[in-house]
Amino acid sequence: MLARLWTLVSAALLLQVLPAQARMMSKADMQAHQAAAFQRFSTLAASARPQSSTGVKNITFSNPKASEFYVDGTSIPEVDFDVGPSWAGLMPISGAANETRKLFFWFFPPGPQGSLDDLVFWTNGGPGCSSLEGLLQENGPFSWSFGQAKPTQNQFSWTNLSSVLWVEQPVGTGFSQGVPNIQNETDLAKQFVGFMQQFLEVFSELKGKNFYLTGESYAGMYVPYITDFIYENPGMLDLNTKGFWISDPSIGFDVIQEEMPAFNFVKKYQNVFSLNETFMAHIQNISDSCGYTNYSETFVTFPPKGLMPVPGNSTEGTRDCRLWDQIFEATSIVNPAFNIYRVFDTWPILWDVLGFPGSFEQAQTLPLYFDRTDVKQAIHAPVNVTWNECSDVRVFPHGDGSPPSFTVLPNIIEKSERAVIVHGLGDFILISEGTRVVIQNITWNGLQGFQTPIEEDSFIVDGMGALGNVHSERGLTYFEVALSGHMVPQFSPRAAFQIMEFLMGFRDTP
Ligand SMILES: *[C@@H]1O[C@H](CO)[C@@H](O)[C@H](O)[C@H]1NC(C)=O
Ligand SMILES: *[C@@H]1O[C@H](CO)[C@@H](O)[C@H](O)[C@H]1NC(C)=O
Ligand SMILES: *[C@@H]1O[C@H](CO)[C@@H](O)[C@H](O)[C@H]1NC(C)=O
Ligand SMILES: *[C@@H]1O[C@H](CO)[C@@H](O)[C@H](O)[C@H]1NC(C)=O
Ligand SMILES: *[C@@H]1O[C@H](CO)[C@@H](O)[C@H](O)[C@H]1NC(C)=O
Ligand SMILES: *[C@@H]1O[C@H](CO)[C@@H](O)[C@H](O)[C@H]1NC(C)=O
Ligand SMILES: *[C@@H]1O[C@H](CO)[C@@H](O)[C@H](O)[C@H]1NC(C)=O
Ligand SMILES: *[C@@H]1O[C@H](CO)[C@@H](O)[C@H](O)[C@H]1NC(C)=O
Ligand SMILES: *[C@@H]1O[C@H](CO)[C@@H](O)[C@H](O)[C@H]1NC(C)=O
Ligand SMILES: *[C@@H]1O[C@H](CO)[C@@H](O)[C@H](O)[C@H]1NC(C)=O
Repeated sequence: MLARLWTLVSAALLLQVLPAQARMMSKADMQAHQAAAFQRFSTLAASARPQSSTGVKNITFSNPKASEFYVDGTSIPEVDFDVGPSWAGLMPISGAANETRKLFFWFFPPGPQGSLDDLVFWTNGGPGCSSLEGLLQENGPFSWSFGQAKPTQNQFSWTNLSSVLWVEQPVGTGFSQGVPNIQNETDLAKQFVGFMQQFLEVFSELKGKNFYLTGESYAGMYVPYITDFIYENPGMLDLNTKGFWISDPSIGFDVIQEEMPAFNFVKKYQNVFSLNETFMAHIQNISDSCGYTNYSETFVTFPPKGLMPVPGNSTEGTRDCRLWDQIFEATSIVNPAFNIYRVFDTWPILWDVLGFPGSFEQAQTLPLYFDRTDVKQAIHAPVNVTWNECSDVRVFPHGDGSPPSFTVLPNIIEKSERAVIVHGLGDFILISEGTRVVIQNITWNGLQGFQTPIEEDSFIVDGMGALGNVHSERGLTYFEVALSGHMVPQFSPRAAFQIMEFLMGFRDTP
């Protein structure tokens, strides 16, 4: 107490005698703090590492076909370090001699600390967006994110935990080949499982591994439906499915995940949005009269009081209640770099080697990284295919006929050892408040929703402290990550890494 008082007194004296332009902290001190913070952020305590596996971290594949897919980690264009061995290329979705449809994959074995017992599959969403975006900008061994001058090593690569398989799916996405013909998520799951069967014939050393399905955004549809298909058709895949991760997932109705929470989101981040008072009053008016503002307060209780209604009886939101578009338009006026995937972004729009497909028409100098001939050659991709991050062709030619994935979540949570749903709190394209509603409205392992409230500041990231909220019940763990946008492994890689450690059983608590 006394010591603190003395500090205050001496600080006050110091302020009086120092010239006006002097800072409390010198530039050198400030930079030392920044360097230390970066060092802390990028170094994980050894104790947090999975040490579950033994044996060489040196997968070799006996099938001679595997060598056709081998990628030399020292010859990936622009990457000035060795990323280690990997395997990439096109694999058919069935064993039929006349099969024309192929999916593109890039497989990495585990790094030095990773487990040889596991296999993680990652897919991006869209529909039609490439999982190579995930590899290059979210959870792969090297990163080239927006604004970065060149690729860097990703300290939080999921390959530090396990083997990881990135797949461009469904047919019509990225480098994949063939004419899209799927009608719904069952068709998609069948094609993916067909691909995996072919993959496991070539890379047969991976058979029997513990299997985790992971993905983001529209993969909130893909991953639950594929997982459900695998659990419901045992014996089709020679893998031991253990759990799944979906982040910023599309799992419910648009009115719930986009429209209903839109005003409350803007209100929470009012200083970030900087919308004028007249407009705020206007959107509050709509939100109130559409039953949005108090929806959660009324219906999201712990435990829930019953099944929840769809506001306005419209799964997309009625015409008069469309708030999201109005907010987007108004925000784009005051912040022309407004990024629906991470609302904290401001002008200028960052350069992106993949040509960020979000709300911007990018000024990226062509070609995009994966559309370069040298890159295609390095990874056995077809050189005559024009690669886009998100496909121009409709991967569901007549739309996705499946209902929201909350219909299958109960079954796959019950059949998994662990299941995680993750949401970045700075994401405006899918909003965490809506994800909470979907969770509280589903019934798994005998009860509806979470029975006790989600505690604020309960997600403790090792070495960082509270970075959001987390709650676990009956096999489902829900994480909300502060300061993260839509792509959690990109914007909060350390948190994402810890969540994967939990999912895979490398740590006991979230
Ligand atoms: C990897 O495997 C090769 C041959 O299969 C062997 O020569 C090499 O020593 C192994 N490396 C490690 C680090 O175990
Ligand atoms: C392959 O041939 C079978 C009949 O032999 C046919 O049913 C199937 O549609 C063909 N598949 C493709 C992709 O052309
Ligand atoms: C990931 O592996 C790299 C290379 O071995 C290592 O430098 C890094 O510290 C690891 N990161 C984590 C989070 O374990
Ligand atoms: C709110 O809506 C009502 C009609 O529904 C209208 O009379 C009123 O002017 C609106 N107020 C604002 C601030 O937009
Ligand atoms: C929402 O709830 C608050 C406090 O519970 C209340 O003051 C307000 O009138 C409610 N608004 C609407 C539109 O029901
Ligand atoms: C809640 O679940 C019920 C039953 O599945 C469904 O009819 C209802 O539309 C759901 N409500 C919301 C808000 O998703
Ligand atoms: C909601 O809409 C469905 C079909 O669109 C209709 O059958 C039902 O009666 C409506 N319910 C209410 C409460 O308006
Ligand atoms: C307030 O925002 C709205 C929506 O963007 C805009 O139409 C209006 O001109 C703004 N008013 C002022 C005074 O800037
Ligand atoms: C690309 O080349 C392959 C083999 O060289 C060929 O089968 C395929 O039809 C070509 N695709 C396009 C889009 O030109
Ligand atoms: C997909 O369509 C098939 C055939 O039309 C149907 O049997 C299946 O139940 C559908 N799956 C979903 C998830 O809607």
